[in-house]
Amino acid sequence: MSETEFKIAPSILAADFTRLGDQIREAEAGGADLFHCDVMDGHFVPNISFGPMIVEAVHRVTKLPLDVHLMITDPEKYLDMTAHAGASMIIFHIEVSPKPHTTIDHIRALGCRVGIAINPETPYTAIRDLIPDVDRVLVMTVHPGFGGQRFLHEMLPKVRQIADAAKHSGRSIEIGIDGGVDQETIYPALANGGNVMIAGSSVFRAMEGIAEAIARLRAVKVV
Ligand code: DX5
Ligand code: ZN
Repeated sequence: MSETEFKIAPSILAADFTRLGDQIREAEAGGADLFHCDVMDGHFVPNISFGPMIVEAVHRVTKLPLDVHLMITDPEKYLDMTAHAGASMIIFHIEVSPKPHTTIDHIRALGCRVGIAINPETPYTAIRDLIPDVDRVLVMTVHPGFGGQRFLHEMLPKVRQIADAAKHSGRSIEIGIDGGVDQETIYPALANGGNVMIAGSSVFRAMEGIAEAIARLRAVKVV
């Protein structure tokens, strides 16, 4: 990706689950680059969403890559199931990973790309040394657990720090922005170095429809 390019990853958490297949097809036809699947366990976050069975169902209706964002206390335990369900990238949280290098190696051994996620209250220093070893850092711009929350602008300096460190590493490391991304907040997210925009409500609940919402996010230019 060049510095001005970015990817749009609709988050299926905000989809209408009674029509999940159709909504995914619509987003794919509308230009989504990949899909983001939020797995929640009711422990690491106060909500429960879905697990590998739904990821596997999503995998059957799209050829696009699938992110699986594990918001669970014991990510190691579910890596194999997640990979077998069709994940292209497995994202785990630094806050619940006592041995992140083991988790990174395990994910790679399963043939998946590696993402590490960082909560709003967790400082940059918690992941600094891991940045060169992953394919994406996912910066939470809401408190994880629910879609439809307000974008935390105070996370932007952390996004910038992580983006600078990623650039410095000389490897191509994506900077994901997760939570509250819409047609307004995408500007500061991109301007501070984000390049994978996770968007749930602003895509699947858009008044103008899924494809148009993606087109409008895509049309954003950072000057
Ligand atoms: C939040 C999840 C997000 C969520 C984003 O816990 O990790 O991926 O789906 O949803 P929106 O875009 O509605 O904030
Ligand atoms: Zn997520």
